[in-house]
Amino acid sequence: DVFGALRTPGEGAFIAGHRGDRSAAPENTMPAFELALASDMDFVETDVQLTSDHVPVLFHDVTLERTTNGRGKVSDKTSAQIKKLDAGRWYAREYAGTRIPTLDEFFTRLVDSDKKALVELKFSWSDDDLRNVIDLIGQHGLSSRVVLQSFSIETLLNLQRVSPQFPRIMLVRELPANPVPMAERFGVIALATTAKAVAAQPDAVTRLHEAGFGIICYTLNTEDTWAEVRQLGVDGIITDTPSDLDSWLAAT
Ligand code: G3P
Ligand code: CA
Repeated sequence: DVFGALRTPGEGAFIAGHRGDRSAAPENTMPAFELALASDMDFVETDVQLTSDHVPVLFHDVTLERTTNGRGKVSDKTSAQIKKLDAGRWYAREYAGTRIPTLDEFFTRLVDSDKKALVELKFSWSDDDLRNVIDLIGQHGLSSRVVLQSFSIETLLNLQRVSPQFPRIMLVRELPANPVPMAERFGVIALATTAKAVAAQPDAVTRLHEAGFGIICYTLNTEDTWAEVRQLGVDGIITDTPSDLDSWLAAT
């Protein structure tokens, strides 16, 4: 079952908390991950990018301004500079002093939970940097609990060469009528896209399933969109409001 790495046994659609539980704590920080790990969701989604000294850190935007007290690009800063930033005060006073986690710190915490992680590799990753991430996952004993995903074609192709067996998902903003050749070419286990993209190509879901691939949707935060993609047969939902989605799934 290609969904072995994705599905919670006995359940249908899985839920992933987007950047942790960003509806209740600053995104991509340990407080947001703690909430996600304490919830009923199956996966925690997070974004990874590299500092100038090639340390993988959890951060979404290209630049620091929106969610920290720093300025400029993450990729221009050393890991020591990144570690000095406040990534919580923008969200609420009680989170002042919250730091940007490294991927290593996130994995250290994930090991002591029963959750899996959807780790998005932001932008373009070299073979060496990908090897370091795969090694880090192995060192933490998390190979069966982490799925990598990316929008970057270069990153996906490099990953296929560096670690062809490692489960990965291709993020796309639109779906072709038949996405199977694309999924095959990149050797992914699933595609992830928007509800709008799936609604525009409803046959794509059947085609992917018949060929053994999954399809999941990001980032859906309303009951209407949850109902819509469930009807369309998607395998998983990434949401900013995981506890609301949990309650909705339980009630429907
Ligand atoms: O998991 C997919 C989703 O997170 C992609 O969009 O911009 O939130 O990383 P973004
Ligand atoms: Ca993401």
